[in-house]
Amino acid sequence: MMTANELRRKYIEFFKKNGHAEIKSASLIPDNDPTCLFTTAGMHPLVPYLQGAKHPSGTRLTDCQKCIRTGDIDEVGDAVHLTFFEMLGNWSLGDYFKEEAINFSFTFLTKELGIPIEQLAVTVFAGDEDCPFDAEAWQIWNNLGIPAERIAKLGKKDNWWGPAGTTGPCGPDTEMFYWTGPQPAPQVFDPENKLWVEIWNDVFMQYHKNAEGKFEPLSQRNVDTGMGLERVTAVLQGKPSCYETEIFAPLFAELDAIRGVPGVPANERTSSERIIVDHLRAATFIIGDGITPGRVDQPYVLRRLIRRAIREGRKLGITTEFAARIAKQVIAGFGEFYPELVNNAEMICSELEREEKQFAAALEHGTKEFQKLIDRVPPHIAKKVISGKNAFNLYETYGFPLELTVEMAKEQGFAVDVDGFQAAYAKHQELSRAGAEQKFKGGLADHSEETAKLHTATHLLHAALRKVLGTHVEQRGSNITAERLRFDFCHPDKMTPEQIQEVQALVNDAIERKLPISCEEMSVDAAREAGAMGLFGNKYGDVVKVYTMGDVSKEICGGPHAANTGDLVKFKILKEESSSRGVRRIKAVIGEAASK
Ligand code: ALA
Repeated sequence: MMTANELRRKYIEFFKKNGHAEIKSASLIPDNDPTCLFTTAGMHPLVPYLQGAKHPSGTRLTDCQKCIRTGDIDEVGDAVHLTFFEMLGNWSLGDYFKEEAINFSFTFLTKELGIPIEQLAVTVFAGDEDCPFDAEAWQIWNNLGIPAERIAKLGKKDNWWGPAGTTGPCGPDTEMFYWTGPQPAPQVFDPENKLWVEIWNDVFMQYHKNAEGKFEPLSQRNVDTGMGLERVTAVLQGKPSCYETEIFAPLFAELDAIRGVPGVPANERTSSERIIVDHLRAATFIIGDGITPGRVDQPYVLRRLIRRAIREGRKLGITTEFAARIAKQVIAGFGEFYPELVNNAEMICSELEREEKQFAAALEHGTKEFQKLIDRVPPHIAKKVISGKNAFNLYETYGFPLELTVEMAKEQGFAVDVDGFQAAYAKHQELSRAGAEQKFKGGLADHSEETAKLHTATHLLHAALRKVLGTHVEQRGSNITAERLRFDFCHPDKMTPEQIQEVQALVNDAIERKLPISCEEMSVDAAREAGAMGLFGNKYGDVVKVYTMGDVSKEICGGPHAANTGDLVKFKILKEESSSRGVRRIKAVIGEAASK
């Protein structure tokens, strides 16, 4: 039986053997991508390179990337959905294209994994007004021995990937399916038949969708592939659900121990149990990447995950604190491949404990308040609704995530005015929840000139903060839109107006001195020796890019940046506020907006 660990190792070894450099998984928190809260695919941290920037590790890459997709959060609990998952991938950055990519996939599936060809089927792009039928991919598969009736031709909905935003690289893809039925696979492949399970996706990025919606050929043709580790592990083990694999077994076992109940067969786990292990696994990894529970963005999603898990625990009759115990199993199981979990083990456990305590108190008070709202509605009223204002009050005062209120209301036959909640929320928060949800949907990072300049400003700001506040300051996150930058950093106290002025003046000084910005490639060790700051320790390959801005800043970073600090014209801090415990947030603008 092939385990997930073996599959991961085999995949990476295979591609290394075929000239690919192994790169480390990037952080779950995307760098400078205003459109996404979390890394959603292996290609996500590689966007600049897919768009033509030179990757320091070369043109053939492979990795196993941590991913979070919260679009499906309400479906977690069923047999297939996961919030956190690992994506195996291999990339060609203007190197090989369809012939080799498909050959690699075919060889890996049939030779390395030993899947009989009779159990495989594929889809290719059927063609439409934008782009012709992918005859090339069809022919390559057919030459490899996949019969015509096992190659389905499908449209954009199924066989096209990207752009995730409105413009950017995209192209036809070819998906591979594995027959999971008890009988031999039917001769003719029917993609609608659920017993055919998709296991791998090879995307051929040969187009750029422009602002007019036209597809132009890309100068650099890339390959981007993605294989979901958990799903493929389950499929290869003949299990209908990832939750039945060894990946989750220790987590379920710990949950049994916490509850003091005997184990049950893996296929008898309930949705509450699945939600607990899924959410706490995700939460462990998110905290491991430096996020702590809070009120907006990633910290808010983290809080939602933890609180939903705890509530499911209550449903199972757990009255003691348990989140950190599950987390310890996650750290034990995944720490070898993801050392950041081991390095941050203490913080992971203490943050979970803190959140659990806070939520337990809130639950107790909030549940009473909630029940009062329910009881106030006479039983004969047909339309039982909790108003948006009340739902918001539960959120604001007791920390009830909206989803929790909705779920609890449903249990008593009530609906919640979600729109009303969002209106109330938007009034109180700078960022509406709907806006935050939007960001989960994914999108390509915007690498326009303006965002490059704002990105440069974050480096100058980072350096200035360390000078004014001390070297304990470290970046915790950054989010850039075309209009402004947002920079999160660890610092225990609110900044004084004088400190803010001083930081702003230091950045403006660096801008006025018109410092040249240079980029060098070097090993991680050389970078550290040169005094470069490296953020999110685990995300770099062996060779990194180091951006130097005069005598002010030296940081490991993927770029891109402005050519000269003078390009920023002016820098202005708009706001300094709390982001989450121990983390401050600065919003700032540059150029004309800063001159107002
Ligand atoms: N980026 C492609 C996917 O996520 C491989 O399926």
